[in-house]
Amino acid sequence: MKLIVSGASGDLGGRVARQLLDLVPAEDLILLTRNPDGLADLAARGAEVRAADFDRPGTLATALSGGERMLLVSTIAVGPTRRAQHRAAIDAAKAAGVRRLAYTSCVGIHPRNPSFIVPDHTYTEALLRDCGMETTILHMGSYADILARAIVPQALASGHWVSRSGDGRLAHVAKDDCARAAAHVLADDGHAGAVYEITGPELMSNREAAALAAEMAGRPIAYLEPSSADEEEVAKQAAAWVGPFTLADLLSSELAVRDGFNAICSDHVEMITGTPAKALRQVYAEAGIGS
Ligand SMILES: NC(=O)c1ccc[n+]([C@@H]2O[C@H](COP(=O)([O-])OP(=O)(O)OC[C@H]3O[C@@H](n4cnc5c(N)ncnc54)[C@H](OP(=O)(O)O)[C@@H]3O)[C@@H](O)[C@H]2O)c1
Repeated sequence: MKLIVSGASGDLGGRVARQLLDLVPAEDLILLTRNPDGLADLAARGAEVRAADFDRPGTLATALSGGERMLLVSTIAVGPTRRAQHRAAIDAAKAAGVRRLAYTSCVGIHPRNPSFIVPDHTYTEALLRDCGMETTILHMGSYADILARAIVPQALASGHWVSRSGDGRLAHVAKDDCARAAAHVLADDGHAGAVYEITGPELMSNREAAALAAEMAGRPIAYLEPSSADEEEVAKQAAAWVGPFTLADLLSSELAVRDGFNAICSDHVEMITGTPAKALRQVYAEAGIGS
């Protein structure tokens, strides 16, 4: 059975593709990307790499032909562009005869969730409900890797962790666990119609995540609420959140955490893959925090 992974040269999509090579024969994999040259290693292992750009819907019929299941990795240009890209991908999958479409959404889908990322996922999930294909929705939690690789190193350097998220809790999840779950959902039977919460194994506030990092590193981190944070500090921290996002975007996501929209923790990673999700302590340790 042919399995399609979109966005396969992205960080998540690449991890999914590599996980799938352990689960299915390489020749069953169709990897879509705007940058086929970047996937020469996976092509050499036997996967079929095809050029696909959701901004060019006319090219997608060829790119998706023959695929039976597909993972649509949500794209990165938040807003109308992303919604159009997702619509083009879903329409093309349907036209190409894809039977089951899995999609990487986010936790906390709710009409009053203030996070800037939510409206696109709400829109896309509505398209999926009406698309006529079998679907599997993966509500991905916040990547623990962003803390471990960007926020914590900066907080340790400056001594400050600035956040509007207050004591709102979330279950940060390792990107590898997201990828493992997505790979299994694609390769295994029994996931049609499912909606999963792909989270880490424990709820904690960012204040607790800061305290854990400080304890492991043996260095203090002051967790600053907005009243005590100067704008320069906030802007510096925002810059660590790589990507084309504005400060207002990031603040909207912190307010979503503060207001409880991300307080979701499940065992679905273990249910889907047979292996529990990594704790934040382990993700920190693997990123070298405290060593
Ligand atoms: N849960 C979280 O904490 C969190 C945080 C940030 C982002 N996200 C979401 O998770 C997704 C994957 O994260 P990541 O870290 O892997 O991001 P990334 O490395 O920046 O990858 C972005 C992805 O978007 C794809 N893409 C962009 N424009 C496209 C287009 N026109 N047509 C087709 N594909 C397009 C890319 O595919 P190619 O480059 O291979 O074409 C790539 O897979 C992001 O795109 C975003 O929606 C989640």
